[in-house]
Amino acid sequence: MISQNTIQEILSRIDILDVVGEFVKLKKRGANYLGLCPFHNEKTPSFTVSPSKEIYKCFGCGKSGNSISFIMEHEKYSYVESLKWLAHKYGIEVEETFASAEQREQYQTADSLFIINNFAEQFFSAALKESEEGRAIGLSYFKERGFREGIIEKFRLGYAPMERDAFTKEALAKQYNKDLLLKTGLVAERNGTLQDNYRGRVIFPVHNHSGKVMGFGARILKTTDRAPKYINTPENEIYVKSKILYGSYFARTAIEKADECLLVEGYTDVVSLHQAGIENVVASGGTSLTVDQLRLIKKYTSNLTIIYDGDAAGIKAALRGLDLALEESLNVKLVLIPDKEDPDSYVNKVGAGAFTEFIKKNKKDFILFQLESSLNDIGEDPAKKSELVNKIAESISRINKAEDFTKQQDYIKESAAILKIDEAGLHALVNKYIRDKVTALERKAMNNAADTEQNAMEAAVSNYDDATFDLLFKDQLQEKELARILLEYGNRLWDEHTLIAQHVFDEVDELEIEDPEVNRLITTIKLLLRSNPEQLTDKYFIYNEDKKLSAFAVSLLNHPYEESERWAADFSPNTGYQKDLFRQSFEAFSRVISKGNETDLNRYKLISEDRTNQKVESAIQYLKLKKIRRMLLQNQDDMSGPLSDHKFKELHFIHKSLKDMEREITNILGMVIVN
Ligand code: UTP
Ligand code: MN
Repeated sequence: MISQNTIQEILSRIDILDVVGEFVKLKKRGANYLGLCPFHNEKTPSFTVSPSKEIYKCFGCGKSGNSISFIMEHEKYSYVESLKWLAHKYGIEVEETFASAEQREQYQTADSLFIINNFAEQFFSAALKESEEGRAIGLSYFKERGFREGIIEKFRLGYAPMERDAFTKEALAKQYNKDLLLKTGLVAERNGTLQDNYRGRVIFPVHNHSGKVMGFGARILKTTDRAPKYINTPENEIYVKSKILYGSYFARTAIEKADECLLVEGYTDVVSLHQAGIENVVASGGTSLTVDQLRLIKKYTSNLTIIYDGDAAGIKAALRGLDLALEESLNVKLVLIPDKEDPDSYVNKVGAGAFTEFIKKNKKDFILFQLESSLNDIGEDPAKKSELVNKIAESISRINKAEDFTKQQDYIKESAAILKIDEAGLHALVNKYIRDKVTALERKAMNNAADTEQNAMEAAVSNYDDATFDLLFKDQLQEKELARILLEYGNRLWDEHTLIAQHVFDEVDELEIEDPEVNRLITTIKLLLRSNPEQLTDKYFIYNEDKKLSAFAVSLLNHPYEESERWAADFSPNTGYQKDLFRQSFEAFSRVISKGNETDLNRYKLISEDRTNQKVESAIQYLKLKKIRRMLLQNQDDMSGPLSDHKFKELHFIHKSLKDMEREITNILGMVIVN
């Protein structure tokens, strides 16, 4: 944690022109400044900065915010990382509360490793360009592969001399610490002496996403050697293999602009594609993808295209990690390069235009790709086929984030067709897997103290029916559904003038929402609507600094509540009735109901034509219905005691009116129920 003092000091020092100016060339226009938007591709500037308000806004893509959010968005930093960046920029010393001595030591080591690596990068680069040996061996190797000066410079490629301790000598002369040198993997201790670990190899520095050198890949030159082809930096404080995407620093803006990330296997593939002008490309290093790598990609785009050579064993390895991609809501496509070529050799052979065209034409959806190839393998064996059906249902069930709801439906449809099975059956199976998972997670949360995941899973499966029942009939289901709808669709248009969030509030504002978390979410969204409506996205909540809010948003988006028709059962008269829960006065309530349900043709046209609007409408109406039925129950209860004539008439009138409203809403629901 950064101390409040430090935060205050940073806030008092930041100057938005200065911060944005690091990345965008700004020109004064009246009271504001104007430049080319760094968040989308544009030729005429529509990105404005207001120094007096300390905000920026792009009129092209709508992105807006303050200095901190600019750094968060531009550098993909967390809030704390952004503060640190700003502190560094203004030379403010960061005072950390709670940083243990151990943590501090770790930061210091990390800093030192970056410094040594930076020195090494310069050393290898100079050895490549300035020494005779480097030019004769290293540079001519790169040239042979078709790498030109510019690209060698850009990727800071280098050469490690053959001499036993060329680097070590210089590093020691610079007084770098021996233990740290060993940690970088650049230096090794052999027979009591320090020597270079990379000798007579070409060097690919590996940069983190802000351009600092985390480590190196050192490629052998003669393939006849028995030595490994690449020697990579060992894991240390800054080189964590599972979090590395080679090339991300050079690719990140291109990825964002293309809204697609190409993933290849090797260092040389990345360099060659960049040289050809295809810059939205990173490499995984030939192992299966990790969740961390996928999250890194997800910061820039939701579209991942994996490009591998057709017969690579690598493809199996890469696919292994890919079910995870679904949970990260990535759209994963796959392209296989033909004829024993790899992306590097293929782009050199056919050129950038044909390469891009090939990728575009041959992209295959990875789930369907997997399905088709498995189906080929198993033939007509029914047992194996049912296994495959289960496997694919499980895969599809992982796509359960709200933003991907339609994608899930599409997969079910297409997979059912490929498998030649009943679509509804596959649908049911997918839902079963989703429920299993949700229940397992809920159980796990409940037992999180001692229980392992395994236990939680088993407990959930054995109590499956109870837990599902709880989940489906929980008291505030309709409120949560409404919250989910707000998160998922709030920033879309209900009609030409109104955002869905605004429409929802217009409709339900006077209803009393009982769930405190839903209430908090609603309050936050209302504030946003007033101040920064463009920030209203599910991401705003998912990445919210307020951990509770973010956890709630994530849980909402993960819950399979969306099928409103399932709730029909929730409306049996004696479900979840709690007498004092409903405190809304009857008058206020009837106002809401009649306001919401003016039978306005346009309104229903809007609803019937648009699936999203249908969902919104059905969430609103179900919530109203729930409230009405609660009220009916309460009223019936009141009527059951001894009553004065006058009181009885009053309650009876209320009863009749509620019944009318109930009928009206069920009619509307008849129109809008989504299947
Ligand atoms: P490749 O063998 O395809 O390497 O391995 P490459 O980079 O394309 O090299 P060229 O084109 O043959 O010269 C793909 C990736 O797997 C990792 C590296 O990240 C490499 O770029 N790898 C491979 C290693 O880490 N160690 C090895 O020994 C081999
Ligand atoms: Mn290669």
